[in-house]
Amino acid sequence: MGTIRLGKRTDNRSPLIKDFVPLTNLKDLVFGAWDIFPDSAYDAAMHAGVLEKELLTQVRAPLQKIKPMAAVFDQYYVKRLNGTNVKEGANKMELAEQLIAEIAEFKRRNKCARLVMVWAASTEIFLKQHAVYKTLKSFEQAMRDNHKAIAPSMIYAYAALKSGVPFANGAPNLTVDVPALVHLADQNRVPICGKDFKTGQTLMKTIIAPGLKSRMLGLHGWYSTNILGNRDGEVLDDPESFKTKEESKLSVLEYILQPEVYPKLYKDFSHVVRINYYPPRGDNKEGWDNIDIFGWLGYPMQIKIDFLCRDSILAAPIVLDLALFLDLAQRAGMKGIQEWLSFYFKSPMTAPKLYPEHDIFIQLMKMKNTLRHLRGEDLITHLGLEYYD
Ligand SMILES: NC(=O)c1ccc[n+]([C@@H]2O[C@H](COP(=O)([O-])OP(=O)(O)OC[C@H]3O[C@@H](n4cnc5c(N)ncnc54)[C@H](O)[C@@H]3O)[C@@H](O)[C@H]2O)c1
Repeated sequence: MGTIRLGKRTDNRSPLIKDFVPLTNLKDLVFGAWDIFPDSAYDAAMHAGVLEKELLTQVRAPLQKIKPMAAVFDQYYVKRLNGTNVKEGANKMELAEQLIAEIAEFKRRNKCARLVMVWAASTEIFLKQHAVYKTLKSFEQAMRDNHKAIAPSMIYAYAALKSGVPFANGAPNLTVDVPALVHLADQNRVPICGKDFKTGQTLMKTIIAPGLKSRMLGLHGWYSTNILGNRDGEVLDDPESFKTKEESKLSVLEYILQPEVYPKLYKDFSHVVRINYYPPRGDNKEGWDNIDIFGWLGYPMQIKIDFLCRDSILAAPIVLDLALFLDLAQRAGMKGIQEWLSFYFKSPMTAPKLYPEHDIFIQLMKMKNTLRHLRGEDLITHLGLEYYD
């Protein structure tokens, strides 16, 4: 639905983005998945209870046809899940080879011209950067050695990149954000992006925080809590998975507010993030924020946000956009980390030594300017030259 302004304001050129760049038509997409539960897409959607049953029965036949392939899974990485639709293999490299064969078979069977893979599976336990991630050689050796540092999500990412398939990471896990896989993406000329879809509370945070900073309003503290009752909430109830999410959610304010540049306004603010699993809420979570700000002469004020949102309704369009844009990026010859897609993520991947851009307005401008650049249009700088003769 988004549009993009081209040329001068007086030119009145604001086409739909989907008409401006050659995105694949939604009608031409074919979906496939892996999951540890064997339910079809129809059964899974009925069980999730996000969409109305009436709506789902209208697409019952095509959804029933989508049955997940057996997953690469190990409960060590997601403590709260236990499923039966799981692959077996002598080591992690062999599991990756099974995925690579399935990717090729999926492409052949569905007569697909191109593929994209998006990780929308559960949040894995917190993993730090590790020596085995440093080079592709050490990464592959670690796969053959069944090393603990290689999480299932990394095996999928490796399989995608080996197959020349662009990969997006919707969860906060490291996954493709390790040097070996970034190198593989560059080498095979495959676009990648991540991490962690920016949907509910963090979306709000990256909308509000740039506004506060733009008016030089100070911050004493920002307390965020969530209640949610879907399977994501259940998985995040495990402290090890929550730690991965917490790291991802905490970083945004530091980067947006730049306490080192504005110490009087933002030094030492308190930032707390909680997620509580509360089954009655299902997918309709509540994100509650209390923001303690201060204005002129240090006078304190408060903002309260109560976002009654729907997790999957906010996330699903992001998955689609990313599939379309990653495919576009690959056709346009772009490879490696796609920073212009930061707009969609809580912890955007960046080139080494660069800090991530979290301000949603800068992210949007960067995305649109990238699209303008791809089509040879002038970049929009918002500079008003009309004041000069
Ligand atoms: N608004 C959002 O929904 C949102 C926003 C940001 C990030 N995320 C992240 O996206 C991910 C998915 O969220 P969700 O709400 O759809 O969760 P969900 O629990 O409904 O779905 C995740 C699915 O992944 C499956 N799974 C787990 N490990 C797997 C593996 N190794 N291989 C294949 N399948 C596996 C589970 O069985 C489950 O069906 C989570 O990591 C979540 O934190 C979601």
